[in-house]
Amino acid sequence: MTPDFERMWRDLAPVGRSGADGGYFRQPFGAAERECLAWFVEQAQARGLVVERDRFGNHVAWWRPDGADGPAVLTGSHLDSVLDGGAYDGPLGVVSALAGLDVLRDRGVTPARPVGVGVFLEEEGSRFGLACLGSRLATGATSWATARELEDRDGVRLEDAMDGAAVGETDLLAAVGCFVELHVEQGRDLVDRGVPVGAASGIWPHGRYRFDFTGQANHAGTTRMEDRRDPMLTYAMTALAANKQARLSGQRATFGRLEVRPNGTNAVPSSVTAWLDARADSSEHLASLVRGIERQAGDRADRDGTRLDVTSESVSHAVRFDEDLTRRVVGTSGMPVIPTGAGHDAGVLATAGIPTAMLFVRNPTGVSHSPAEHADTADCLAGVQALADSLQRLVA
Ligand code: GLV
Ligand code: MN
Ligand code: MN
Repeated sequence: MTPDFERMWRDLAPVGRSGADGGYFRQPFGAAERECLAWFVEQAQARGLVVERDRFGNHVAWWRPDGADGPAVLTGSHLDSVLDGGAYDGPLGVVSALAGLDVLRDRGVTPARPVGVGVFLEEEGSRFGLACLGSRLATGATSWATARELEDRDGVRLEDAMDGAAVGETDLLAAVGCFVELHVEQGRDLVDRGVPVGAASGIWPHGRYRFDFTGQANHAGTTRMEDRRDPMLTYAMTALAANKQARLSGQRATFGRLEVRPNGTNAVPSSVTAWLDARADSSEHLASLVRGIERQAGDRADRDGTRLDVTSESVSHAVRFDEDLTRRVVGTSGMPVIPTGAGHDAGVLATAGIPTAMLFVRNPTGVSHSPAEHADTADCLAGVQALADSLQRLVA
């Protein structure tokens, strides 16, 4: 029985939602994300868990029964969302973790090792551009000296956005022996297999690249077509080329964010900045995909009389989750072990050398990073049971 899962899910459902059935925006350090975090702390304290936070704003709620000792088992996920995102990406892992602990208690399990429920900051990189910012800071993959200078779209620095919100000092991961993150599936693999829960084998390498196209601002009515240096054209052709190259090679390339200056209807733009999200099944394929897109964009810039500068903002290498831990998570359930193209804090912890595994809960449409993201309650409850089973094996 997991009576609390549905209650917790209902608690969170309205927070950060646009209207009754719109998308979510739980921006790091914004009101909705803060409300989710306050809710998490309240839920943790109601369960007698001890909440610790580090100086970056990551939280872990610990269950340390008398006698629990040795390397801790960490679970959890994140509470922030993409712009106009769904309810499940992140919060499902946090709510399931709390519900999973309830299941263990109901079963009378007393962990021999500390168990933590973690909430990592800014997993989506929707505000400061760097995905998995919280786990990168917690593992040292990104330094605070670099991160504090990151700016959001309004020019607000990370350190200022925090505004004293993160005051802890604890190294939350120091005592962690392994991490198991539960997440909604962001594809249709489990649907096609007809199973509610699966485990992850690994994460595709992926990266974010800023393409700055610079041209010359000019009058939309008086500038002859042949006299223009229009960066929008260079960008448009680049987006088409990226799509084609990714399709032909079986990889992924997306331009999902654009800034146009001056962004006026009756002016040729002076510059266009576009962000490429590229993902591939190997680091070599990723590098060659991005090189190919850059080369085509550069050729087109020469023809358009525009300039192109490409900056790699973040690159995450391929992740293989810990096979032994994954075997223990899967147990005798027979659940499939599948790869994913989505990034996760679990990938950052795995890269930092912490044995890590993931569980995925079926998403009937496969749609994610969208208000349409969904998982049926019965599947979510199956996910809670699978997580509880895993934790029970790991804390024994
Ligand atoms: C995070 O969900 C990502 O894959 O970008
Ligand atoms: Mn996520
Ligand atoms: Mn996401």
